[in-house]
Amino acid sequence: FPPERIRNFSIIAHIDHGKSTLADRLLEITGTIRKDRTNKQVLDKLKVERERGITVKAQTVSMFHTYKGEQYLLNLIDTPGHVDFSYEVSRSLSACQGALLLVDASQGIQAQTVANFYLAFGQDLEIVPILNKVDLPAADPDRIARQIETAFELPTDNILKISAKTGLGCDAILDRVIEAIPPPTKGDTTTPLRALLFDSWYDTYLGVICLFSVLDGRLKKGDKVLSCHSDRKYDVLDVGIMHPEQRSTGVLFPGQVGYAILGMKSTSEAHIGDTFYLLGNKVEALPGFQPAKPMVFSGVFPVSADEFPKLNDSISKLAINDASVTVAKETSSSLGQGFRLGFLGTLHMDVFRQRLEQEYEANVICTAPTVPFKVTYKDGTVHHIRNPAEFPEGPMLTKVDNVEEPTINATILTPDVYLGPILELCNSRRGQETELTYIDDTRVMIKYILPMTEVVTDFYDRLKSISSGFASFDYEEAGYVDADLVKLNVLLNSKPVDALASIQHRSSAEMTARQTVAKLKDVLDRQLYEIVIQCAVGGKIMARETLAAMRKNVTAKCYGGDVTRKLKLLEKQKKGKARMKMVGNVEISQEAFLTMMKK
Ligand code: GTP
Repeated sequence: FPPERIRNFSIIAHIDHGKSTLADRLLEITGTIRKDRTNKQVLDKLKVERERGITVKAQTVSMFHTYKGEQYLLNLIDTPGHVDFSYEVSRSLSACQGALLLVDASQGIQAQTVANFYLAFGQDLEIVPILNKVDLPAADPDRIARQIETAFELPTDNILKISAKTGLGCDAILDRVIEAIPPPTKGDTTTPLRALLFDSWYDTYLGVICLFSVLDGRLKKGDKVLSCHSDRKYDVLDVGIMHPEQRSTGVLFPGQVGYAILGMKSTSEAHIGDTFYLLGNKVEALPGFQPAKPMVFSGVFPVSADEFPKLNDSISKLAINDASVTVAKETSSSLGQGFRLGFLGTLHMDVFRQRLEQEYEANVICTAPTVPFKVTYKDGTVHHIRNPAEFPEGPMLTKVDNVEEPTINATILTPDVYLGPILELCNSRRGQETELTYIDDTRVMIKYILPMTEVVTDFYDRLKSISSGFASFDYEEAGYVDADLVKLNVLLNSKPVDALASIQHRSSAEMTARQTVAKLKDVLDRQLYEIVIQCAVGGKIMARETLAAMRKNVTAKCYGGDVTRKLKLLEKQKKGKARMKMVGNVEISQEAFLTMMKK
């Protein structure tokens, strides 16, 4: 295929606007997959993705389409739909020349539509708007088309109106792709190879599979190629297109995207954004990508200490396929040996945890999410705090020059009836309004700068509940700013529970302290002695509750002589004990921890 007859494109959309459904339809129309119920949503491969209806890992598929008597190669490069994965979105987009902007004609533009539009726009892609779900009675294509004109200044005179579900109007999309999206730049088959690695994953049978976008030269089976990043040499064991699974073609030409198997041992060797070249023909590296930075950290601990090796194993297996997760060992005085994991965002964290539980049946306790705070000491050293336990306090404070926290630019789209409560929510989270625009008579786009720490716990849930689910939310990082933060310790009978410590803005520390002690009083089991529950900043107690001692002895009623019953009871208690963590002389059950970790 000469580049003129290749199109590389992606579909960008808000979650649930029908991206996967449309992809399936296009694959059917081109005969890439059979029209069959069983191959529903080919692109969403992982179970958790299907269950949650979100695409996490970008997939790519090649299709053939005849237009005006000529055969074209169309490469659909999938992008994850969620805010946490904007890094994956942008790297997928780097292999494209255009994007279909899919908008639900009943719901209209949502926060991720806006965020993904700007990502694509920033990469100079040709953007083709499409209205989906026109079969729904609530669909209002004309109104939504006007929203698209207002928000994105895109012409909508001959906008495609489709139903990805019924297939209505879908046939016209492929012709539109060919007409509207430019072909990849004419690479040179005779010049040395230059290929951009833009994705990779681990396949149990084939090992690491890499996705490449070939800019110049050819990527051929049997070639020896080198990575600009690591200077490592690899044999090209196989190369081909995804159609929809790997189909060997022996060679990839300029303008093409496809897979290559280089015999890598782990995806960590597949450096995303790396440039590959032929042995003896070194080329200049293409501009790579900034690696995704984890912005949310959480401690993960086995419920009982003897499950540590199993947890270790499960986490390594999962991390092999998700290079954006960072893993470090951690020891907590209350939870024992575990890990501190870093995620791109809270959804990424939820998906990972869920996979951990689902695929590996790991029984785990996860601590509340925390963002990386930046502490600069007077001697000039800078420390990124990923764990509240490491936050400076007491005498250490005299050495601190300043403390900074990460912020985000948040975009919220909502029907205007919910505007009041939403602005209130943002203001109560120390937000700063930067924009408020009506995109039609009743829908508003709001932009705020918010401290990230105020968003990682329950912000999204609150937003959904005050807007009856109608508001949508997306964000991008907006750098660090100075912040007046303190470490809030939780004490049980004067002993700190490190796993429950948190970092708070000084203004909200007292309220959080009061809520925390009240909640702890609720979830802790009574014990043989009184428990004093306290929250403190430095030496100052901010809140206190007391849990009275237990009155009854569980075995008391057995003193009648029924030994088996007594033994059974003690056995039950012992089992329960295995799931208990000790802090000083206080036992904390797994349930209590789990409830405390949930905001
Ligand atoms: P992510 O993978 O999370 O980005 O979602 P998505 O955009 O891929 O959405 P998906 O294709 O999973 O569709 C979401 C829901 O909308 C599914 O229940 C689809 O059946 C439904 N849907 C998609 N297209 C149409 C359509 O044209 N009409 C109607 N009525 N429903 C549709």
